[in-house]
Amino acid sequence: MKHKLSIRSSAGTYPAFAGEHILKESLNEILEDHVTDKLFILADENVLRHHQEHIKHIASSIAGDIHLISIPRGESSKSVKFWSRSVDFLLQNGARRNTPLVVIGGGVTGDLGGFVAATTLRGMPLIHVPTTILAMVDSSIGGKTGINHQTGKNLIGSFYQPKAVIADTAFLRSLPRNEWINGLSEILKYGAIHDSEIFSEAKIFLNERTDEIPREKLIPLIAKCIGIKADIVEKDEFEAGIRAFLNFGHTFAHALEKACNFDTISHGEAVFLGMLAAHKLSADLGANLPGNDLDPFRALYSYRVSEESLSYNDLNKFMLSDKKRTGKHFTFVVLEKWQQPALKTVNDQQLINSAWNVVFEELKNCRQTDINA
Ligand SMILES: NC(=O)c1ccc[n+]([C@@H]2O[C@H](COP(=O)([O-])OP(=O)(O)OC[C@H]3O[C@@H](n4cnc5c(N)ncnc54)[C@H](O)[C@@H]3O)[C@@H](O)[C@H]2O)c1
Repeated sequence: MKHKLSIRSSAGTYPAFAGEHILKESLNEILEDHVTDKLFILADENVLRHHQEHIKHIASSIAGDIHLISIPRGESSKSVKFWSRSVDFLLQNGARRNTPLVVIGGGVTGDLGGFVAATTLRGMPLIHVPTTILAMVDSSIGGKTGINHQTGKNLIGSFYQPKAVIADTAFLRSLPRNEWINGLSEILKYGAIHDSEIFSEAKIFLNERTDEIPREKLIPLIAKCIGIKADIVEKDEFEAGIRAFLNFGHTFAHALEKACNFDTISHGEAVFLGMLAAHKLSADLGANLPGNDLDPFRALYSYRVSEESLSYNDLNKFMLSDKKRTGKHFTFVVLEKWQQPALKTVNDQQLINSAWNVVFEELKNCRQTDINA
């Protein structure tokens, strides 16, 4: 089963593939007419630990001159240091403007590699091979690339569209369970803002063992999410309007991540909590939201953070410093109904604090047991 979607952008149309064991044939299809025999691969170290031989085997069937660089796991690789090291590697090994750069990893490697491709020689052909759920359904689509600056996340970067995206679920066999749940939050986000069926389709994630999640259901779900994101970014490539709906739950989430120093909470955990807060805020603003479709998934999340370590003051201060904020007020993506998002400015501090209370309550009820010990 292989899905192929076409994504339109100002730089042209590019394909996104989703399927199992599709890397070789998809790369062949994309690079069929490519004249160069050189190929660069920039890959996450954990992915290489599990899949290096497989990757090298496929690459060597496509090009004769292969150069591979390993990127250490973790957010700190999205840095000027690793950007500069990667550019050095490309230039010192004879990269040309038409040499393809295949970037294999999660959102960290993808954002770094995308920015390396965008900036080296004013742009090299970029092929994203996302290997986490989050990267497959979200970060590899839409052309945002970038690295962090000491003053904040993703502050250096560019919009740069890939030549192709290949989401090969064979890579997920080595992905730790917590990273599956991390990515699930973004899938549920699409359920909340766009397609109610996703909530029932995502129930495959309730399976105790990720290796038992049926691929015949997972792959169409990944393809559907890619299609939703593609549709939104096609309409608003440079985030002047509706692309902001993809930030449902994220205003709360970014403040939580900052309050936890990007350490004791993962992005996916923060997004799930942020969506619970945004749901409460939407309801308090008068939205018609019967039930909460996020409820069945609550049990999958457990947190290392204590609500006692967080304060309204800090969280609200961090929300005000969010880079996506354009005015001096709090702006949120809320739901007017399920699957009907809207941007709302909220000045009533009490409403915002009530939304935070939902987060505090969730942190109290779903604390990881070792924190209580
Ligand atoms: N560009 C965008 O539009 C966009 C959107 C959302 C998020 N992001 C960025 O994405 C990043 C988060 O991405 P992520 O959640 O994929 O995290 P990540 O890239 O850090 O990957 C998570 C962990 O999984 C490991 N890993 C990756 N694939 C694996 C595999 N197949 N097997 C075993 N281990 C594997 C990595 O080594 C890492 O330890 C953040 O930096 C965020 O800012 C970007």
